[in-house]
Amino acid sequence: MDGNGRWATSRGRPRTSGHVVGARVVRTIVESAEDAGIGTLTLYAFSADNWKRPTREVSMLMRLFRRYLLSEMDRCVQNGVRMRIIGRRDRIPAELRRTAETAEATTRDGRRLDLRIALDYSARDCMVMAAEKCAGRPLTRDAFVRLMNEVTHSGPVRDVDLLIRTGGEQRLSDFLLWECAYAELYFTDRMWPEFTPADLIAAVREFHARDRRFGGVQESVAAAG
Ligand code: IPE
Ligand code: MG
Repeated sequence: MDGNGRWATSRGRPRTSGHVVGARVVRTIVESAEDAGIGTLTLYAFSADNWKRPTREVSMLMRLFRRYLLSEMDRCVQNGVRMRIIGRRDRIPAELRRTAETAEATTRDGRRLDLRIALDYSARDCMVMAAEKCAGRPLTRDAFVRLMNEVTHSGPVRDVDLLIRTGGEQRLSDFLLWECAYAELYFTDRMWPEFTPADLIAAVREFHARDRRFGGVQESVAAAG
């Protein structure tokens, strides 16, 4: 979800108003995810590097996340959406941490969509913390994934199929680096406050048109020897 600040400033409004509109967009996108055929949706809400932003913007974002969780919890229960907050929990405000735990507990039976919100998240920190936990033990990919799951509270860690980045930047910014090993990348200039369900469906349609070989060759090529 990138582009909130630029969207607002280009309209002569404070960056924070872009975040408010961006939070509304989250609702429409979450509600259209199932129609788009998505079972797990991870939103990059706040990276571990976003703490570098001005204190006012950071505290506004923390309040906004809490307000979002409080206002969406019941809707998520009705719509079968299970919420999980992934990332570190020791640096976010205590009130937000408690609300995140309540949101997770309240929505835990949701089966239609796994909604994961990355908050104070860094893929590299996550890998380092997982590596610290395994110190000395023989390591397999599966064991490492389980450790990453533990340190980020993320539920089962799944490979990402499609990564969509809005806002015109073409980089990963420390997001789900392990899980994106074979992700299809989709970059759009659309700023997050203007991202629509139709944009989501367009991205998914392009994803389905991609030829995913995972290092192999196309079946027809393999058959032809
Ligand atoms: C939203 O967009 C992402 C958050 C960290 C909340 P940005 O705040 O990164 O917006 P731009 O990139 O400055 O436009
Ligand atoms: Mg940005």
